Amino acid sequence: MALPLTTDMKTIGGLLAWARQTLESAGTANAGQEALWLLADALHVELHQLVSRADQSVTVEQQARATTIVQRRASREPLQYILGTQEFCGLDFHVTPAVLIPRPETELLVQETLREGGFEEGAVLVDVGTGSGCVAISLATILSGMRIFALDSSGDALIVAKGNAERHGVREKIIWSQGDLLSPLRECQVAGKVDAIVSNPPYIAEAEWAGLQPEVREYEPRLALLAGPRGTEFHERLIQDSRDFLVSGGLLVMELGQGQASHVQQVVKDAGGYTGLQTVKDDAGIERVLIVRRAS
Ligand SMILES: C[S@@+](CC[C@H](N)C(=O)[O-])C[C@H]1O[C@@H](n2cnc3c(N)ncnc32)[C@H](O)[C@@H]1O
Repeated sequence: MALPLTTDMKTIGGLLAWARQTLESAGTANAGQEALWLLADALHVELHQLVSRADQSVTVEQQARATTIVQRRASREPLQYILGTQEFCGLDFHVTPAVLIPRPETELLVQETLREGGFEEGAVLVDVGTGSGCVAISLATILSGMRIFALDSSGDALIVAKGNAERHGVREKIIWSQGDLLSPLRECQVAGKVDAIVSNPPYIAEAEWAGLQPEVREYEPRLALLAGPRGTEFHERLIQDSRDFLVSGGLLVMELGQGQASHVQQVVKDAGGYTGLQTVKDDAGIERVLIVRRAS
């Protein structure tokens, strides 16, 4: 809920104080910092100028732009959708409500794929559920000579991802395809030839939905988040289906939700056809990434 507009809001400093108070009243955790980022964007000034020019008057247009975006944030719209950007693996990604906002923990998925990979020229890599394209694009900017597929069931997400790839100069290094999980690969003659399948799939269980933060539940795409009653339905399907595509020794690398590791490990063991099962913890000590190899 935004606080009423006041006459003090005719200067940068006054506007900043109002923005901070409005975000605090709305329950935003990082209200002071977010007020600075939002006003810098709305007023088209550098962060440090917000402080050094606190007494400077703002125009009616600047005030209108600033109050609009602060009120959007006070309604718990994610900062990243308002500013249109999120950093991931050192790259800026454009984000819209068609895509999940890339999370810092997903960088571990990229790091572990690179650490385990040892990919040779011509290796085939697949990012399943590419969203903003953050995983596929990060890999494409680091690796050269690979054949990288980026798959998603959402056409709108693929449009955003292709834009991001264009921005980072790797659009032509990636093959984009829309469809359910690995199904687009069936027409690509890559059965038994894929060196790595990497995925941050939807993994929220239905019962967890109501407890999510409003920023996530009300603004991020449900398709990107919700898996099913267990939360591990996409992992289970990827474990079953990846065996047809992976080369002997090829990697399946998946992000996990908190508390999902033991169940997903059991699914791997029950499925058979895999070896070298391991999990990697994130900075918070959560088993975040599961890695297995296709057995010979
Ligand atoms: C958790 S998001 C991950 C997005 C991105 N890779 C990231 O890490 O930020 C999951 C993605 O899977 C996609 N998705 C959901 N169901 C799918 C399906 N059946 N087949 C392919 N992609 C799907 C969603 O559209 C979404 O982009």
